[in-house]
Amino acid sequence: MKKLSITQPSRLAALTLSIGLSAAAFSTQAQEVKGSAAAAESKVWLCTGCHAIPDYRADYPLVYRVPKIGGQNAAYIYAALEAYKSGERKHPTMRSIAGSMSPKDMADISEYYAAQTATSPINPLK
Ligand code: HEC
Repeated sequence: MKKLSITQPSRLAALTLSIGLSAAAFSTQAQEVKGSAAAAESKVWLCTGCHAIPDYRADYPLVYRVPKIGGQNAAYIYAALEAYKSGERKHPTMRSIAGSMSPKDMADISEYYAAQTATSPINPLK
């Protein structure tokens, strides 16, 4: 008869858990980012080709309408841009535009457009 005796040396591996700097500190920043209308002035050039049509009406036949964003609530604009970025809103052009924006860009642009009012002087960047 053969008795199989297997002895396995018990090895205690010394596990060293390396805990790096927590990234958690950064994860909440996106929501707390403060927008600056002035900082947006260099960022809205792209928007003007569509959102700065006089009176926000592209009434030429076959030309689509573009929503007026000047004067909208900043939180609404921010949420809209986030929704394009996440894909929740499907418009292809706005998705690609918002897709390249950082939270700071979105916050700045939101403040910029929210500061526009019906009585704002004509602003070529509106
Ligand atoms: C090529 C034209 C074009 C450009 C450029 C463009 N947009 Fe738009 N934008 C549109 C159209 C069209 C819509 C409506 C899309 C839809 O139906 O969801 C829209 C929608 C939006 C909305 C949502 C408005 C609402 O009432 O819900 C926001 C906010 C917005 N754009 C911001 C911007 C910003 C900021 C930029 C520049 C960084 C920009 N857009 C550049 C065409 C454009």
